[in-house]
Amino acid sequence: MKIAIGSDHGGFELKQKIIQELTQTYGAEVVDCGCDGTDSVDYPDYGRKVGETVVSGDADRGIVICGTGIGISISANKVPGVRAALCTNEYMAKMSRQHNNANVLAMGARVIGDELAKEILRVWMTTDFEGGRHQRRIDKISAIEEKYNR
Ligand code: RB5
Repeated sequence: MKIAIGSDHGGFELKQKIIQELTQTYGAEVVDCGCDGTDSVDYPDYGRKVGETVVSGDADRGIVICGTGIGISISANKVPGVRAALCTNEYMAKMSRQHNNANVLAMGARVIGDELAKEILRVWMTTDFEGGRHQRRIDKISAIEEKYNR
């Protein structure tokens, strides 16, 4: 699986650890959308890059990380076709895949610890979308995007 990942400075250190986990534990191919260090940057730039990489098909799914996970998930969700889910525990990660078919995982590096982040990643990487009635609801999300002209 090809995963696009991006963070701001608040998420940089966790991003590096998640990249290592993705390649070593899951054999994933990683597209690192930045940032490249702990100097202050703007999270919308990285949420957008990851979202665009996923929607264009250059990656199968994406991961975004900032201090809280809030700003970068809001930003990624502005890219039509992105369903970014901010997850703070394994249950949310599971539901985000089974029910919401989340194609972007968002985490807050200042909210959760490294080990919890790895557990959330594990669940999110290994849980499939259930389809059925949940597809109907996702189609309705797409209809909202279309109504507002993307
Ligand atoms: C940066 O200081 C911080 O605002 C950012 O990482 C994030 O938490 C925004 O939602």
